[in-house]
Amino acid sequence: MIRRLAQRTMIAGHRRSGSGIVVLWCLAIFTWTVALAADAAPAGSSNSCIACHQLQHDKRLRQPAVGLPNDVHFTKGFACQDCHGGDPTGGMAESDPSLAHDSAKGFVGAPTPAQIPEFCARCHSDVERMKQYDPKMRVDQLQEYRSSQHGKKLAQGDAKVATCISCHGVHGILPVADTRSPVYKTNVAATCAHCHADTGYMGPYGIPTNQFKLYRTSVHGSKLLDKGDLGAPTCNNCHGNHGATPPGLTSIAATCGECHANNREFFNQSPHKEAFASLGVGECTACHNHHDIAKPADSLLGVGPGSLCITCHSEGEPGYRAAALMSAKLDSLKTTLHTAHDMLVRPATSSCSAARRWPICVCAGSGWRLRSRSFSCSPFCSIKRFAASKAGRGSV
Ligand code: HEC
Ligand code: HEC
Ligand code: HEC
Ligand code: HEC
Ligand code: HEC
Ligand code: HEC
Ligand code: HEC
Ligand code: HEC
Ligand code: HEC
Repeated sequence: MIRRLAQRTMIAGHRRSGSGIVVLWCLAIFTWTVALAADAAPAGSSNSCIACHQLQHDKRLRQPAVGLPNDVHFTKGFACQDCHGGDPTGGMAESDPSLAHDSAKGFVGAPTPAQIPEFCARCHSDVERMKQYDPKMRVDQLQEYRSSQHGKKLAQGDAKVATCISCHGVHGILPVADTRSPVYKTNVAATCAHCHADTGYMGPYGIPTNQFKLYRTSVHGSKLLDKGDLGAPTCNNCHGNHGATPPGLTSIAATCGECHANNREFFNQSPHKEAFASLGVGECTACHNHHDIAKPADSLLGVGPGSLCITCHSEGEPGYRAAALMSAKLDSLKTTLHTAHDMLVRPATSSCSAARRWPICVCAGSGWRLRSRSFSCSPFCSIKRFAASKAGRGSV
């Protein structure tokens, strides 16, 4: 094929100029063609599928052969026939695709969306097979997928849901850890949003299409996408990689608790655990929401304006009293902190006499003085004030 391609290029070159430069030009093209073919075909083989599909004019037929060299499968030694079947040695010389597209050699052509999960899972659910490549690789993608809303709808004949290739691509599938992969952590939200933020596409389902918009400016979205903190969650941390379903209302604490373990423990011991389950409200999300989680403010506690607690607890109830008490305690804690902070950082209006070899600090408003090597008196005065206030000997 290289010879034929080179011949074709030479003819084209001749027509254009007919000068001696053409020879050099042909040589360059020839080398480039050889390099391209060597790049695309698995080492040491001439794969007729790749060879013929690379020459197709129809982009739909050519693109798979052009994209494949970047594919994780290709780098592990797989080629077209490992997914599509057929005979990768036949058809090219004879210019007859049917010799390669041989159903006796297992050719299955392009799968329909409904067939894709099983098509990929032929290997990905095969423990023995996958173990040879990466013993740590999960093999439950199909099982998880079937349990998801995507999988359930696909089984009912709805081809608009995500299948394996909606999230991973095809003929150029990258490892998850590759930053260019559509499922690399910082790309997941945009991949899901491709459908979930498209109001036209999602219209018939009647579910919200604002998840990405809300998530993008939430504490989590801004941490991950603006600050690059890979510890912050994206869509699949809460919905599962392959099990895309909203977390059940009574398993939300477990979902959030993967990262916020303390909050989970406190919540599970609180009276709200049982109360929320019987009311049918989301565990953490009844108070924090889910896609638009914001940085919580102290004003959420208490019984004043902006309080969260009084949306459920009315005056006279134990919950209301607890809320009032919590904010009162918080207020008094804030006052104490404020005072301590003031004492430590307020520049002491103290005077220093530098006239002598060892200057003397005199702290304003008190009789405290110290002969000091330091010209700065404020640390000394602050410490004295703090100690005095702790011992109840008045404040300054
Ligand atoms: C001699 C050229 C040639 C060879 C060799 C060849 N193909 Fe094709 N292939 C074509 C052409 C042309 C089409 C479109 C017409 C058709 O479907 O036959 C096509 C179509 C396909 C399709 C799409 C079928 C569909 O359902 O739309 C797949 C998948 C495919 N080839 C895979 C392969 C694989 C795998 C091999 C190697 C085992 C291979 N081809 C070898 C030329 C070739
Ligand atoms: C990892 C598995 C895998 C490998 C490897 C693979 N394909 Fe495919 N191929 C698919 C899937 C899945 C589809 C269906 C894509 C879709 O529905 O958009 C497909 C579709 C196609 C189509 C139809 C494209 C279309 O848009 O209708 C052609 C042609 C094709 N493949 C050829 C090839 C050729 C040639 C190679 C090797 C260079 C190859 N494939 C390697 C999985 C694979
Ligand atoms: C809704 C999007 C989506 C669909 C559908 C999907 N995946 Fe994934 N896939 C992901 C995400 C997200 C990850 C994980 C990224 C991570 O680990 O951070 C992933 C990871 C993987 C991995 C790496 C190992 C692992 O399980 O973490 C494989 C292999 C994989 N998917 C194969 C498949 C196959 C096969 C299918 C179809 C049965 C499929 N995926 C369907 C989004 C999807
Ligand atoms: C012929 C067997 C086979 C088929 C069919 C197959 N895969 Fe794979 N896949 C593998 C192997 C083997 C690996 C590489 C494991 C490794 O990393 O060593 C892999 C790797 C992957 C990875 C990268 C996982 C990672 O390490 O991050 C993804 C994603 C993936 N496949 C998705 C798919 C999808 C989607 C399909 C269907 C279109 C598919 N595979 C079809 C065998 C297959
Ligand atoms: C190819 C388009 C497409 C992509 C990509 C996609 N989804 Fe979906 N998703 C759908 C459709 C369609 C539904 C079905 C809606 C329904 O049944 O209400 C759905 C349903 C869901 C549901 C269930 C919603 C409900 O309560 O009914 C969740 C959760 C979900 N997707 C999460 C995700 C996540 C997370 C990602 C990315 C990792 C993702 N989806 C990628 C199309 C897509
Ligand atoms: C911090 C966890 C978390 C993150 C991150 C997250 N979700 Fe959700 N999502 C939830 C919870 C919890 C629900 C269920 C809410 C309920 O039923 O009350 C939900 C519900 C959904 C639903 C059902 C419809 C709806 O809006 O209620 C879809 C679809 C969905 N999420 C998609 C996404 C997509 C897409 C992303 C990424 C852009 C995402 N989610 C990010 C926790 C999360
Ligand atoms: C994958 C880990 C992860 C998951 C899952 C997760 N979060 Fe977070 N969350 C984080 C990280 C990281 C931050 C940023 C912390 C920071 O700003 O220092 C954060 C911040 C927050 C904040 C703001 C804290 C502050 O002081 O600013 C709240 C509230 C919060 N998450 C609630 C939730 C809830 C509710 C859920 C479940 C619906 C959840 N998170 C799920 C990792 C996670
Ligand atoms: C009854 C309402 C309520 C519930 C239920 C609730 N929170 Fe909170 N959460 C709050 C309030 C109010 C604050 C702010 C406290 C403050 O700043 O004074 C807060 C603060 C936080 C913070 C930031 C401060 C810190 O502790 O790091 C995180 C993270 C958090 N919550 C996560 C969660 C998680 C995870 C759950 C579920 C396990 C949960 N919350 C359940 C009301 C609630
Ligand atoms: C989504 C509604 C909701 C929100 C918001 C809420 N609670 Fe509750 N809380 C309940 C329910 C329901 C119960 C159990 C029934 C009862 O005792 O009122 C409860 C019980 C309590 C109890 C135990 C009362 C007892 O009988 O011993 C306390 C204390 C409490 N809540 C404090 C708070 C505080 C503080 C806040 C704000 C941070 C808050 N709650 C926010 C619904 C809520």
